[in-house]
Amino acid sequence: MASSAWYQRSVFYEVPIRAFCDADGDGSGDIAGLIAKLDYLQWLGVDCVWLLPFFDSPLRDGGYDVRDFRAVLREFGTIDDVHRLVGEVHRRGMRIIADMLINHTSDTHEWFQEARKPGSAQRDWYVWSDTDQRYRDARIIFLDHEASNWTWDEQAGAYYWHRFYHHQPDLNFDNAEVRDAMLDEIRFWLDVGFDGLRLDAVPYLIEREGTSCENLPETHAYLKQVRAMIDAEFDDRVILAEANQWPHDVVAYFGDGDECHMAYHFPLMPRLYMALRRGDATSLVEILNDTPAIPAGCQWGIFLRNHDELTLEMVTPQDRDYMWHEYAPDPAMKSNLGIRRRLASLLDGDRARIELLHSLLLSLPGSPFLYYGDEIGMGDDYSLPDRDGLRTPMQWTAGPTAGFSSAAPTDLYLPVISAPGFRPDVVNVADQRADDGSLLNWVRSMLALRSAHPVLGRGRFELVGTSHPAAFAFLRGDDEETILAIANFSAEPVGVTVDADVGRAGTSITDAVPVDLGEPLEIAGHGFRWIAIG
Ligand code: BGC
Repeated sequence: MASSAWYQRSVFYEVPIRAFCDADGDGSGDIAGLIAKLDYLQWLGVDCVWLLPFFDSPLRDGGYDVRDFRAVLREFGTIDDVHRLVGEVHRRGMRIIADMLINHTSDTHEWFQEARKPGSAQRDWYVWSDTDQRYRDARIIFLDHEASNWTWDEQAGAYYWHRFYHHQPDLNFDNAEVRDAMLDEIRFWLDVGFDGLRLDAVPYLIEREGTSCENLPETHAYLKQVRAMIDAEFDDRVILAEANQWPHDVVAYFGDGDECHMAYHFPLMPRLYMALRRGDATSLVEILNDTPAIPAGCQWGIFLRNHDELTLEMVTPQDRDYMWHEYAPDPAMKSNLGIRRRLASLLDGDRARIELLHSLLLSLPGSPFLYYGDEIGMGDDYSLPDRDGLRTPMQWTAGPTAGFSSAAPTDLYLPVISAPGFRPDVVNVADQRADDGSLLNWVRSMLALRSAHPVLGRGRFELVGTSHPAAFAFLRGDDEETILAIANFSAEPVGVTVDADVGRAGTSITDAVPVDLGEPLEIAGHGFRWIAIG
């Protein structure tokens, strides 16, 4: 059997430190709290933790606005705590990657403070202009908040360029000192022992007039330089591109296997929700057919939800309207070009649909990324600003602070979810651990199943036609095993045959029951089957 890299076999779990567990009782999660919960992640079957930004920051964009790349946000802990965290993760046989913010900094970063001074030698570290009319073909990403990608800086007497919030100036990657400085930041955190880095907002590193300023060749050239440095100086690390782009543009981030090891498949995600609502897999089949093959050693990262809005940038305007209509009935649920809701509330807490989407997350090509709290069906609070409603305290136990903190409920960094059906007395880890039939125990059993069938991580992928439009089927295969996965997107049971020569003998791997593939397969409404062939 061809060997596969660790990140091709891993299940990732996304942790915002602030939201996970507060060990010191100040109302905000911290690194010590996360360390205390590593046994839980190991019990769940997580292979790799993805840590959201933990660097010193004014926290005007959840920490994606970095003031100092080498300093740990004081309320989270110290650099010693980070060393301890990495060691404790590794001691449990898990891995850990961190977010790396390479495109921009906070305007409070000393680089920017230096650059804006008149006559500064560091002026060129950011992108300045006398006019706000340059690069007009670049779209605005935070549409709800920003009217331009340029903001005037009085002290500098110039406009500076920013693809996100105006307080997040973009670094100038045409400047060799910036390119080197960022390589040093990357080295620093890999030296600490992180197994990899999620490279945030990579499409936007370089600007050129007359282009969208996204995915430019010079951006790819720099990422290849990052990869070459990592290959030369470190063993077995991974870099993951966050590029919210169409599949043909994203595959460029793999290069010829010499750029990023992983990249998220953004366009896949909204189509899972579309297929589910329409009871029709067509849009999913289209995007998968439109996804080019990727080089050996590379892997997609796939997800159902994350800490951002459910982005609808990679769908047609018609499909965006459909998604908003179906999943954001209250306009307050919308955010930029997306929807700020969590998995369980998007699916009305419906267990069958939550399981169906998880079954696809765990079997479609790519490594799955779980978002903290989705394994227990946590809800959201869209009355909170921006994306805060998706980042509320993890619900460990029943009770007013959900076992997240010993602080008073009013002293928490964000309130615990109070929506009926999603409050901590209804949704929490402790109760679900004790209940064999809970969503949490179901997710855990599915992670175990995935790990027992490595073909689901590394195997070939082949779409298979079916006899029913609501039935979506595909094969995952390698030298050891072939699995047929079938999902029923309709609420009604269906009898399905597949257009593939798979023989008659199969075994349903969720319950080890023999299946006759010569007969139509019965699949419950919103049900799925994973069948080992042969
Ligand atoms: C992160 C967002 C953040 C943005 C700007 C994104 O890629 O996921 O949470 O707001 O970058 O830094």
